Amino acid sequence: MSAASLSGRRIVVSAGPTFEDIDPVRFIGNRSSGKMGFAIAEAAARRGAKVVLVAGPVSLATPADVERIDVRSARQMREAVIAALPADAYIGAAAVADYAPAVIAPGKIKKKDEQLTLELVRTPDILAEVAVHERRPTVVVGFAAETHDVEFYARGKLEKKRVDMIAANRVGVAGSGFESDDNALTVYWADGALALGPAPKTQLADQLLDLILTRWPA
Ligand code: PMT
Repeated sequence: MSAASLSGRRIVVSAGPTFEDIDPVRFIGNRSSGKMGFAIAEAAARRGAKVVLVAGPVSLATPADVERIDVRSARQMREAVIAALPADAYIGAAAVADYAPAVIAPGKIKKKDEQLTLELVRTPDILAEVAVHERRPTVVVGFAAETHDVEFYARGKLEKKRVDMIAANRVGVAGSGFESDDNALTVYWADGALALGPAPKTQLADQLLDLILTRWPA
């Protein structure tokens, strides 16, 4: 059976981590290889969608027929995602750093004292902003990376970020979450949920797109 077509749809996908610079040699970042987001971008392009992939710093090849925009920080990722709108769907698979240094030191910070205190400020919440944007895509899907109480936190994000679906994955265990080739997702929406996998991220990407299509307004 061939996968349902996404021909004529424009899909923006975010993938990978963001790096928030402390000084010219150090940064704060999340663990993410980009594999999950790249698999979604690849699968969507294979089905005929016009795909814009906004990628944090990762070492993955660009999937065929995908427009890739490389960024480093959450702020840059936000700018690239918002500039890529309008779109029919936004799928936020990136592990965006929640905090960034309030200032980036222009030179390398020297080791002097036993302790160093950094002032951190919240980064823009890209997913939440896309979900209420005047050019809001028809479908907005976020991810939730959780170590525990997965459903509680995933449903909280679904509501708070006003998105249509949250694909939750457990992190900190082998065979799912970041860096691994495999993953297991539980996708939550307002009145339902569906478990996908465990399976290779390439397969989960197609299953997630199928699920999104079943709930995509005509
Ligand atoms: O890249 P891999 O190694 O393949 O790993 C895949 C993954 C584990 C990174 C991926 O499946 C995943 O879970 N991505 C989301 C990770 C994350 O940051 O989750 P979160 O629960 O902190 O964020 C919730 C949602 O808000 C996510 O869609 C995130 O992209 C978005 N967000 C978060 C913070 C922020 N400032 N802006 C955002 O848009």
